[in-house]
Amino acid sequence: MHHTGRHFLQIPGPTNVPDRILRAMDRPVIDHRGPEFAQLGCEVLEGLKSVFRTKGPVIIYPSSGSGAWEAAIVNTLSPGDGVLMFETGHFSNLWRDIAMRHGLMVDYIPGDWRRGVQASDAERRLSEDRQHAIKAVMVVHNETSTGATTRVAEIRQAMDRARHPALLVVDTISSLASIDYRHDEWGVDVTVGGSQKGLMLPPGLSFNAVSEKALTANKTAKMPRYYWDWQEILKPNRSGFFPYTPATNLLWGLREALAMLHEEGLENVFHRHDRHAAATRAAVEGWGLEVWCQEPREYSSSLTAVLMPQGHDADRLREIILEHFDMSLGTGLSKLAGKVFRIGHLGHFNDLMLAGTLSGVEMGLRLAEVPHKPGGIIAALNVLAQSQQEKMTRQKGPAASLPQDEPYQTL
Ligand SMILES: Cc1ncc(COP(=O)(O)O)c(C=O)c1O
Repeated sequence: MHHTGRHFLQIPGPTNVPDRILRAMDRPVIDHRGPEFAQLGCEVLEGLKSVFRTKGPVIIYPSSGSGAWEAAIVNTLSPGDGVLMFETGHFSNLWRDIAMRHGLMVDYIPGDWRRGVQASDAERRLSEDRQHAIKAVMVVHNETSTGATTRVAEIRQAMDRARHPALLVVDTISSLASIDYRHDEWGVDVTVGGSQKGLMLPPGLSFNAVSEKALTANKTAKMPRYYWDWQEILKPNRSGFFPYTPATNLLWGLREALAMLHEEGLENVFHRHDRHAAATRAAVEGWGLEVWCQEPREYSSSLTAVLMPQGHDADRLREIILEHFDMSLGTGLSKLAGKVFRIGHLGHFNDLMLAGTLSGVEMGLRLAEVPHKPGGIIAALNVLAQSQQEKMTRQKGPAASLPQDEPYQTL
């Protein structure tokens, strides 16, 4: 089918890359050992700290997020070390597999994929570990396969209550620059990030934000490492350089992404994601469908996974939506294949893009003959308009706002 206008890329990452970032990358490649690069390197290495909310170093890798997963492991641990991990979904499973292949003894707390990590589970296991065999607690902040977000501050509190010295290692690949996250304040030792989601960049960069305690662990960690070695990277980073050829043009994009995030303000970025997630859930409820995440306090602000009614295939719905409306939605991963579809509402996004996205879903439900109620879109628009009204009231005072009690009506 021939399509016109822009494709809607509403998978939970990679996300839409703003034209401003595309333009910033559209330039000749420069000498990565020259003075212009040094300035760029220093700027992005410093600027990234505010996104992770850390004063410590952030390592940049020219790799997808999986590289930063591996880097967190090989830089802090030794073969045979115990680690505590939690089954939150497809991505926790993959990270567990990496840990096992590196010879770690993984204590993997099972889960039903409909919730985040329970701090009480972490506290119980750590309290039992009197010999301190567990060297790291590894948590996926936002489980992209299910749309459940773990309350990382509570995991830190649980570790403190258990008086356990393990490192806290957190994957923020689908939450960084979308969902409130505080590396220093929450006492995280390694934060794993990626470029292709909240940072609005193409895939290809990944990150490790690193605490003092993690740097100390790095000195005695015995995992073999070369490409991922923090020490090899930190030395040249001091003057803005890298030990190997960096992804120069992605770094120009990163510089622009950081400028955009700073202009909007991180708090506003988080608030925007919260609103879009709330409006999406209102639509799902309006359609009479079910949000896959079962714990309202853990609803993800970067994506929503929607459960299909019995006997209806999520991938058929996605195919119909792609063919007729040129919109990509996230597929159900591994055991959720066919059962859920995922709506990405993170990154470079606004109210009308969300309204278009949800309209595409509603029309797709109709074409695919999936039983649903009309009214999802209206419910979402009411959430969006109401919060815009509240903003107007805050900015100009009550007299300037629209009447409060007149939501959109179904026709
Ligand atoms: C939470 C999470 N962790 C890790 C990854 C793996 O990252 P990548 O596919 O960039 O290697 C992803 C990818 O979507 C993810 O969402």
